[in-house]
Amino acid sequence: METTFIFVKPDGVQRGLVGEILNRFERKGLQVVGAKMLRVDEDLAGKHYAEHEGKPFYPGLIKFITSSPIMAFAIRGVDAVTVSRTLIGATNGRKADPGTIRGDFGLSGGFNMIHGSDSIESANRELALWFPEGTLEYDKSSNLWT
Ligand code: TYD
Ligand code: MG
Repeated sequence: METTFIFVKPDGVQRGLVGEILNRFERKGLQVVGAKMLRVDEDLAGKHYAEHEGKPFYPGLIKFITSSPIMAFAIRGVDAVTVSRTLIGATNGRKADPGTIRGDFGLSGGFNMIHGSDSIESANRELALWFPEGTLEYDKSSNLWT
């Protein structure tokens, strides 16, 4: 079992796609073990996207992510990191396969609706950053099918 971190970006929230996006994770069999809606400040945005600092798209990325509320989730399941990235699709909506979130809902390279951790290490780092209070556990008896 793994836990990964995703958030619906400002464009996804404003377009009313939170339910549509979350549904894709739930129907796949992944479980929500943490959820929060917040407006990201520059500090959190900078820490989250530290690996991209200095790249040409970085200033626009920070401006976008801090522009209006987002919705963040901790998502748990077998191979949750890889499965989530598969559900999300390639970074650029024009290259993302149909059937993926980015492939189905957008044409943009930057306004791509959702973030998902790219490795177990990234997931652990991002979960500690976004959910310092920790995530939830399900009782084993209610969790027999995963
Ligand atoms: P990255 O971590 O490479 O993509 P992903 O979200 O698929 O893990 O980049 C982080 C975000 O930065 C990406 O979701 C959108 C934005 N971005 C651009 O705007 N232009 C670019 O050329 C790249 C690579 C990313
Ligand atoms: Mg990334």
